[in-house]
Amino acid sequence: MTTDPLWKGRIAGPPDPEFFAFQRSLPYDARLLPHDLEVNAAWAKALGRAGLLAPDEVTRLVAALATIGQELSPAAAAQRGEEDVHTLVEAELTARTGDLGRRIHRGKSRNDQVATDVRLWTAAAARGLEADARGLARALVAQAAAWLDAGHVMAGFTHLQQAEPILAAHWALSHCEPLRRDGRRFAQVEEATLAACPLGAAALSGTPAAVDRAALAKELGFARPAANSMDAVSDRDFALGFLHAAGLALVHASRLAEDLMLFTTREFGFARLPDAFTTGSSALPQKRNADACELARAKAARVLGRYTALAATLRALPTGYNKDLQEDKEALFDAFDSARGVLHALTGAVAGLTWNGARSRAALGGWILAAELAERLAATGLPFRDAYAAVAQAVQALEAGGGAAGGAAGPERRFEDVTPAEWKALGPAFTDEVTRGLTLEAALARRAAVGGTAPARVREAIAEAREALS
Ligand code: ARG
Repeated sequence: MTTDPLWKGRIAGPPDPEFFAFQRSLPYDARLLPHDLEVNAAWAKALGRAGLLAPDEVTRLVAALATIGQELSPAAAAQRGEEDVHTLVEAELTARTGDLGRRIHRGKSRNDQVATDVRLWTAAAARGLEADARGLARALVAQAAAWLDAGHVMAGFTHLQQAEPILAAHWALSHCEPLRRDGRRFAQVEEATLAACPLGAAALSGTPAAVDRAALAKELGFARPAANSMDAVSDRDFALGFLHAAGLALVHASRLAEDLMLFTTREFGFARLPDAFTTGSSALPQKRNADACELARAKAARVLGRYTALAATLRALPTGYNKDLQEDKEALFDAFDSARGVLHALTGAVAGLTWNGARSRAALGGWILAAELAERLAATGLPFRDAYAAVAQAVQALEAGGGAAGGAAGPERRFEDVTPAEWKALGPAFTDEVTRGLTLEAALARRAAVGGTAPARVREAIAEAREALS
């Protein structure tokens, strides 16, 4: 292991080995290698344009950087002994070009370099997660289309108690919408991350090299150079933006996972996870465990913690680079890996999910049309509060299983099975006109305002989502 750091300027003797290992970042920031090579190449060219390197020197440096990229993988780089990816690249460059390699650090600092590397990495990561979020959204839309055609219905829940009937497709789309917002949020994070290029801020006061920072920014894919050199090396807003977007996408994924876990229990039995995204138990031979979903929950918590840790770190920093900032990378990498893993697993779980429509329909409680019945009463001119009370009374009577309900034993007489005579005994408001055609299908069709579960609206929503996600 190299313990001869580039910064030994006025530091006497080698560092304590354990401390050196503690403060170095190469084991994880080796992941930035492609970006660090890109940034160095852009810097060499900028120095060339400024007349600070000869054209053939620029050519040799750029070629050597490309060779390093071909010969050294990030994984191999992580095994090396240097302090961080920047010192590794400088060492490699010097090994390949001799003295020339020792000239490239002119006018730049690891501070503006790392800020630039990390922005480039974050932009690419945001782009990747945008695609992943859209992929999961697409899997949900595909299932929604199939379930709509199959006529699958289910109970919609509030407080995890059955509330009103919905189409299973409507449930799927309810998870598609947040993921579409996540996709847009990741795209915004990418744009914000590439809005300002830190390179040329140097250590903090701005580069003394007469480089064209605007051209440099453009070459690296940024909109413009960062406006203030001190802010440029201190700013990690983009990292927090990424962690927020990743954390929120995982909050959404975790909620989807929670539904999937419930729906795939024996007790619900609405759906079955595909084998490829199910785990078993080494002790209990019959088990089918939803580990993908459980990990989605835990990874969400973990990434929310990453956001909190970085925000707490940033709030305490004096202006300018501080070593605390080195910790941004593990947060970002971990959030990305977590989000990618979860989105992949859930996309597979959703794409291969089999819905048991008979089961989800049979699970509808007898009074699931209570709100629909109240609505029908209100449509006759009865104030909704009176309609509500009349239906509540009917439910109570049916639950008691006596009197007007005809003495039926068992907890739930389905509204649809109550005869016209029984309805009249349940209350004068329950005329034939009100109770005739009180069916699940009619209730669904009535929810026909934009955003509702009516099959016609859901069909439109599927078409809209398909188009947007294609
Ligand atoms: N490895 C460091 C980081 O990740 C690079 C910047 C070091 N700068 C310094 N002044 N020590 O933040």
